Amino acid sequence: MLETLGVCYHPAMIPQPILQGITLRVKRGEVCVIFGPSGSGKSTLLEILSGLVLPTKGFVQCGGKRLLPMQLQQKIGLVFQFPERHFCGRRLKEELNFGHEHNPWVLRDVLRQMGLADLDLTVNPRNLSGGQQRRVAIAVQLLRQPDFLLLDEPLAGLDWSVRAQMIAVISQLKMNQGVIIVTHDRVEFETKADQILHIEQGKLI
Ligand SMILES: Nc1ncnc2c1ncn2[C@@H]1O[C@H](COP(=O)(O)OP(=O)(O)OP(=O)(O)O)[C@@H](O)[C@H]1O
Ligand SMILES: [Mg+2]
Repeated sequence: MLETLGVCYHPAMIPQPILQGITLRVKRGEVCVIFGPSGSGKSTLLEILSGLVLPTKGFVQCGGKRLLPMQLQQKIGLVFQFPERHFCGRRLKEELNFGHEHNPWVLRDVLRQMGLADLDLTVNPRNLSGGQQRRVAIAVQLLRQPDFLLLDEPLAGLDWSVRAQMIAVISQLKMNQGVIIVTHDRVEFETKADQILHIEQGKLI
């Protein structure tokens, strides 16, 4: 279980709080969709859930315990919006390994889950299609075997033709971990969600 209890985020230099009293619970094996307009605090919430940003009030628990940011980072995989813009490997293998060799069985399994098993690992990841690049970015996080996978606008910028395929792949991932998706458009993941939350101006409503 990943949960927040009364999480607020209000840095001193800005007049309005970015998040106000967010309490949510997501189980492993569940897809939770959080939708809201631009500027409502979705990305900030994911940064807090993944231990990259500390809330100014309230806290995050994972597996029933309050964890230090470093411990939380190990349990959570966060895929930023447009993650492919940050690719730095010249070969797919380098992008996936990111500095350390993974267990080949885990690598094979993750590539299969993401529909990437047939790719040549020596290709330049920048030469893959938009949908493939997005799936590579998710695979990079899955290789860390997180308890929860957090996806920031996973369909942003993708062609209509690959969106349905992407939705199908992502919704399968709950078999191995909890999945939290933030999006401005609830409709696309609606039928796959176990829980749908609405955020506006930093509050769940
Ligand atoms: N470090 C910061 N300092 C000041 N303001 C910030 C900071 N981080 C975010 N904000 C502001 O907080 C609000 C929420 O930002 P956030 O990026 O979390 O929203 P979002 O829902 O992800 O928006 P989008 O759909 O456009 O990605 C915005 O008004 C943003 O300008
Ligand atoms: Mg955002």
